[in-house]
Amino acid sequence: MTIKPPATRLFSTAQEASVAVATEIANLIKSSSEPVVLGLATGGTPLKLYAELIRLHRVEGLSFKNVITFNLDEYLGIPPQHPLSYWTFMHQHLFDHIDVPASQIHIPNGSLAESDQEQGCAAFEDAITEVGGIDLQVLGIGLNGHIGFNEPGSPPDTRTRVIELSESTAQRAASDFGGMENVPKQAITMGVATILDAKSIAMLAFGESKTAIIRRALNESITAEVPATYLQQHDDTTYYLDEAAATGVPF
Ligand code: PGA
Repeated sequence: MTIKPPATRLFSTAQEASVAVATEIANLIKSSSEPVVLGLATGGTPLKLYAELIRLHRVEGLSFKNVITFNLDEYLGIPPQHPLSYWTFMHQHLFDHIDVPASQIHIPNGSLAESDQEQGCAAFEDAITEVGGIDLQVLGIGLNGHIGFNEPGSPPDTRTRVIELSESTAQRAASDFGGMENVPKQAITMGVATILDAKSIAMLAFGESKTAIIRRALNESITAEVPATYLQQHDDTTYYLDEAAATGVPF
């Protein structure tokens, strides 16, 4: 396999970058007679992408009936219907507004009892394998370089598993949850190897808060300390950046 370094595409605004990713997804769906398997992310970054996908569905008739989705991660210890679960996020911001069948949506189950978690994680991996793998994985990047909830220190051979949230990730979630003490301590996340198995990856990063970590992700040697550097080993990754996030990135 030929490894080529991540491509970078620079846009004036997050909106333009998001429309470009939505167009990629729409083209994939329209050109495929087979089901298209999308890996999806939560967080502030993909909101404009999801709004554009909803627009494409409503205004341009793009159908998601032939799409299968897998979300990267979910908080552990809260039920799907919890207002801050990623299940709720995805339904509010995308799934409730398009025609993807519920049976084709996969989100790690954050309400599994401890005794069922290992098997639940293995079943999530199996479900990805059964449909032939992820065609396009959408990613955001944490300020600490995490992808999914693969926090710094995550080895490259990891699969879907339970992980402890890092202090900085929990702090970012604290205001939503009404204080650090209410933030789940753990999550279920696709592993680094699961993500790297995706046929193509679209990494989105917007705004100046992401400038420093994007520079590290693209320029530093591969290190577990910045899990996004693992994407340098992937042969079809594209970074979609707005101008603020791309400051100082050599093109
Ligand atoms: P954000 O989160 O999109 O809210 O910036 C990204 C992440 O932490 O992976």
